[in-house]
Amino acid sequence: QQGTDLMGETVLITAGGTREPIDAVRFIGNRSSGKMGFALAAAARARGAEVILISASTTLPVPAGCTHIRVTTGAQMEQTALAELPRASMVIMAAAVSDYQVLSPSAQKIKKTETLTLELTRTPDILRQIVQQRRAGTVVVGFAAETEHVVEEGRRKLREKGADLIVANDVSRAGSGFDADHNAGTLIFEAGQQVIPLSTKREMAERILNSATSIARQLRGK
Ligand code: PMT
Repeated sequence: QQGTDLMGETVLITAGGTREPIDAVRFIGNRSSGKMGFALAAAARARGAEVILISASTTLPVPAGCTHIRVTTGAQMEQTALAELPRASMVIMAAAVSDYQVLSPSAQKIKKTETLTLELTRTPDILRQIVQQRRAGTVVVGFAAETEHVVEEGRRKLREKGADLIVANDVSRAGSGFDADHNAGTLIFEAGQQVIPLSTKREMAERILNSATSIARQLRGK
C-alpha cells in the first residue's frame, strides 16, 4: 500500500529481541529477528508517517527515511522508548522484550562449573509505562506472543496493559511468528476482534496500521 493516510503521524516502533547480559560474553535472548517491527516501519513510512524505529539485536537494513535507534537490553529500550514517547502519536511494540534480567551480571566471563544458578529479576514492563505516560490521542498497540489460548491471552493483555490494540500471534505455528517471513494472528480491541490469516509481515503490518488508524480517529473524536 502506498499513500498518505499516515501523513502527520509520528509512529514509534520497537523491534527485535532484547539481550540481558549474564557475563562478559553470554546473554539471555530470544528468537525475534526484528522482521515484524521493520515491516511495520517500512509500511508506516510508505504511508507518509514519520517513523522512529527502536531495535534490538537485528542487522536488518533500516527502511529508508526512518529514524533508527539501536539498543541492547530491555532497560535501554525502556529508557529510549520513554524518551521518544512525547513525539509519538502512535506506538507499536513489536519487540520481544526479555521478561527477566540477571540480578548481578558478571563483568568477567564466568568459569565453567557442573551446574550454574543464575538469579533473575523481572524487567520493567515498557508497554504498561507507555500507556500510563502517553499524551491524550496517542494510540498504543502491543503484541502478545502466545503458544496456547492465544485470543484469550491477548484480550487479558489488552485489559491488563491498557493498550488500544493487541496483535495476538500464535508463535508455536511453523512458518509464522518468530524469525519467519509470514505471520498470522488476531487483532484484539475493546469493541471486537479481527482475524488476520497467514500473510507476509508487510501485509500484516498494513492491516495493523489500518486498525490503529481507525482507533486513532475514534480516540481523537474525528
Ligand atoms: O521479530 P520477528 O522475528 O519478526 O518476530 C515477531 C514477533 C513474534 C517477535 C512479534 O510478532 C511479537 O509477537 N512481538 C511481541 C513479543 C513479546 O514479547 O510478546 P509478550 O506477549 O511477551 O509481550 C506483550 C507485549 O508487551 C509486547 O508488545 C512486548 O513488546 C511488551 N513487553 C513485554 C515485556 C516487557 N518487559 N515489556 C514490554 O513492553
